[in-house]
Amino acid sequence: MLNRIIKIGELPFKLAHYLNILDEFKNLYYKRPIKNNVGGMRSQNMFWLWSTVKLFQPKTIIESGVWKGQSTWLLRNAAPTAKIYCFDPTPPWQHNEYYKDELAEYFIDDFSNFDFDNNDIFAFFDDHQNKVERIKQCKEKGINNLFFDDNYETNVDHLTLSHVFNILRNGSDYNYLVEYLETYIVFPSLFKLNSGDYYRKDMMLFDKRSFSFDSPLNIENYSEYYSLFSEYQNEYGYNYHWPTYVKIK
Ligand SMILES: C[S@@+](CC[C@H](N)C(=O)[O-])C[C@H]1O[C@@H](n2cnc3c(N)ncnc32)[C@H](O)[C@@H]1O
Repeated sequence: MLNRIIKIGELPFKLAHYLNILDEFKNLYYKRPIKNNVGGMRSQNMFWLWSTVKLFQPKTIIESGVWKGQSTWLLRNAAPTAKIYCFDPTPPWQHNEYYKDELAEYFIDDFSNFDFDNNDIFAFFDDHQNKVERIKQCKEKGINNLFFDDNYETNVDHLTLSHVFNILRNGSDYNYLVEYLETYIVFPSLFKLNSGDYYRKDMMLFDKRSFSFDSPLNIENYSEYYSLFSEYQNEYGYNYHWPTYVKIK
């Protein structure tokens, strides 16, 4: 098997910085407003998103793909004073259970139709749209710090970065990413995966060799974290959905 691209550049912060706030995340996550967030992010990806935003403290956050609003709640807790712009053709209040942030602004048009004047922007995409296009749109707008959910290697319903890097391996999208990505980090699962090397091979190539750190964190040794991060453990392998940080040059 050819080497797979799972990491370009370095983690934006030292791993210790992330681990130091694991406890804080645990206490926060138990207070989440939406207890059943099927269709949205769960604890594993939420941890990496929350910790990254918390460490960056951007002035402005763009969220594309809101669903019921759980990730908006998470972003608000990570950066309490940030200006948050939420984009989703279906606003959260159209769900029975939802979170609406009083300070955020909500839009049903695509984020690409808007201009932003602040240059300290962190953009989070969980909208199942073509990820290479999202990177191009951000580059055009001068947005450099990005976070993607669902960076599956096998395309499920949209073009992913992992697919371009590891399956396509060439072509204009591949060349574009190689030229313009300064950092590309696929965050690891917080668990050692015990469902074999592969899980749902058809969809996601759940391969422990694909993690960007040599060893996943193995926090199953700590029962206090186990119950938190093993939610929905029979589905999609411990709710891990390839959370990915990108910095554009
Ligand atoms: C996976 S859900 C988002 C989950 C949410 N981030 C969470 O963790 O709870 C995907 C959302 O993307 C929205 N969506 C679809 N097309 C979109 C677009 N062009 N821009 C923004 N959101 C879009 C869907 O309506 C859906 O609510």
